[in-house]
Amino acid sequence: MPIRAFIFDLDGVITDTTEFHYLAWKRLADEEGITFTREDNEQLRGVSRRESLNRMLKGRPVDETTAQTWMTRKNDYYREYLQHITPSNLLPGVSRFLADARAAGLKLAIGSASKNAREVLDKLAILDHFDAVGDGYSVMNTKPAPDLFLWTAGRLGIPPIEAVVFEDAEAGIDAALAGGFWTVGIGQTNLMRAHMVVPDLAALTVSEVLERLNER
Ligand code: BG6
Ligand code: MG
Repeated sequence: MPIRAFIFDLDGVITDTTEFHYLAWKRLADEEGITFTREDNEQLRGVSRRESLNRMLKGRPVDETTAQTWMTRKNDYYREYLQHITPSNLLPGVSRFLADARAAGLKLAIGSASKNAREVLDKLAILDHFDAVGDGYSVMNTKPAPDLFLWTAGRLGIPPIEAVVFEDAEAGIDAALAGGFWTVGIGQTNLMRAHMVVPDLAALTVSEVLERLNER
């Protein structure tokens, strides 16, 4: 099967917003007297806002009203950081990689758990680079369920076996594998289940991805 589409996670793959998510959760945690470290933050990669809160709380009980207020507060803090995002926040190699993929005739999409994805893409000035955007509003079941990537591939009209998902989160790699996609892990976290792993998109060319996955 030829590969005809690339689907990119956003936070941690296209841009460095992972740090902003961390700072926003950290601010909320500090205000509420909850211990929250950078190591704890690694467990929040790729999962929804609600699941992130659950993981931050580590079993500490809070009522539903408090949970909703805290998620709103975290998102307000996160959106303060987003105001400073410009195209300079694209991660290394992203612009070139997207341009090369487009030139190779591939369809391009975003598959992000974030409800802020469109705003981030707009601030990065790359929203119009994508044929489809799946975000935190697209499906009910979030990563590691395959639903978001399946929904996004559906918008492209491409079956999973002809698409590659680029992900920095274990939950995202598991979601893509569950959906029957090819996977490229990006970064340092625990991504050994991915078909290929690279430190960032600067370390990879489009032809390398196509050649290595077509060999399999
Ligand atoms: C993912 C991030 O892309 O989006 C998570 O990796 C984040 O850290 C999730 O919790 C949801 O984002 P948002 O912007 O809807 O709170
Ligand atoms: Mg991510």
